[in-house]
Amino acid sequence: MKRLTYISTFARPLSNKEIEEIGERSVRNNTRDGLTGVLFCFNGIFYQILEGPEDALNRCYARILKDSRHKDIFCLEVENITNRQFGDWAMKTVRLDESEDSLIRPIRSMLNSLARTHYVLERYSPREVLRGLQNGENPLDWRLKDNERAILFADIFSSTTLAENLPPADFERLLGIFYDIANRSVVENGGTISKLTGDGLMAYYPRGREAEALNTALEICRRLDDVRSSANETDPAHWLYAGIGLCTGIVREGNIGSDFKLDYTLIGDAVNSAARLQSLTRKVDYLVVFDDSLLKKIESPSALRKLGLYQPKGKTENLYVYSVDYPYTRRKISVTELKSTIVGLRKQVALP
Ligand SMILES: Cc1cc2nc3c(=O)[nH]c(=O)nc-3n(C[C@H](O)[C@H](O)[C@H](O)COP(=O)(O)O)c2cc1C
Repeated sequence: MKRLTYISTFARPLSNKEIEEIGERSVRNNTRDGLTGVLFCFNGIFYQILEGPEDALNRCYARILKDSRHKDIFCLEVENITNRQFGDWAMKTVRLDESEDSLIRPIRSMLNSLARTHYVLERYSPREVLRGLQNGENPLDWRLKDNERAILFADIFSSTTLAENLPPADFERLLGIFYDIANRSVVENGGTISKLTGDGLMAYYPRGREAEALNTALEICRRLDDVRSSANETDPAHWLYAGIGLCTGIVREGNIGSDFKLDYTLIGDAVNSAARLQSLTRKVDYLVVFDDSLLKKIESPSALRKLGLYQPKGKTENLYVYSVDYPYTRRKISVTELKSTIVGLRKQVALP
């Protein structure tokens, strides 16, 4: 037998009648399926413990996961059990909001802090880890696996010079603009953000989504171009450029690190190559660079630009590299000029 505990939030305000309906349906189904447990509702939060035969429990949880009345479902624990804790209740539904019992107060506060912790952790945790938790798995038990992925690296140009020459609030604002654009472009194209690197990010895409990876790069460039065009030359945002490198390959994916610090991440040649291709954007006149590994997986873009044979730093093999030629993918300023322009801004913003 199995016991599963999860927490979720109401997708919208639910009336007493709707909560009663969930309770009644649960009792009916759970009596039929041999499941027992408790369901607490409080301040827009559900906290449920379900126990019973594994197959029946999995089927029930699959229905619960799809239920549009709640969202942000976060599995807190899955245990193999021999005895039930709530054998008397097919599903005891308790509305903590209504209870006047003083003993309920600490439980309310505990559930509240649990929901808050969940909300915070959700923003820090990789999507794969959250998905695993939602399905009742323990991500710490996962073994590394090989997967084909498209990898994207994006990095702000001359970020060291920007950080050195701008007041921290201005630099922070540029980072905010970049991350807002980059995160949005990745997510809208079905990618997953693997990590934020301080002045850039790494994202990945499942096999079959290579065109979306390239599309992400183009959208980042287009949106940054809009930002530059609408800012005047004395505004640092006018000088906000990012270089993007892409490639595909088999990567090793999963928990990497030690007991002290663990990361859910991707490693392998494709990851290193994408990072190197990203640095090539400093040398060529284009802001997006990818190699054959990606080109082979997509329909060749009409604006494809062959850039030639390059040996990225640290690699032994030469790679054919490409870009896509649009006005917003061209770098209109040299890296040296960009740097000196940024240094020039220092005087205008009158740093102490
Ligand atoms: C917070 C919450 C807890 C639920 N708990 C249960 C449950 O314990 N058992 C159950 O069968 N359905 C439960 N449901 C309802 C299921 O999501 C689903 O609507 C229901 O099982 C469908 O039943 P039907 O196939 O009889 O229509 C719950 C729904 C919510 C929102």
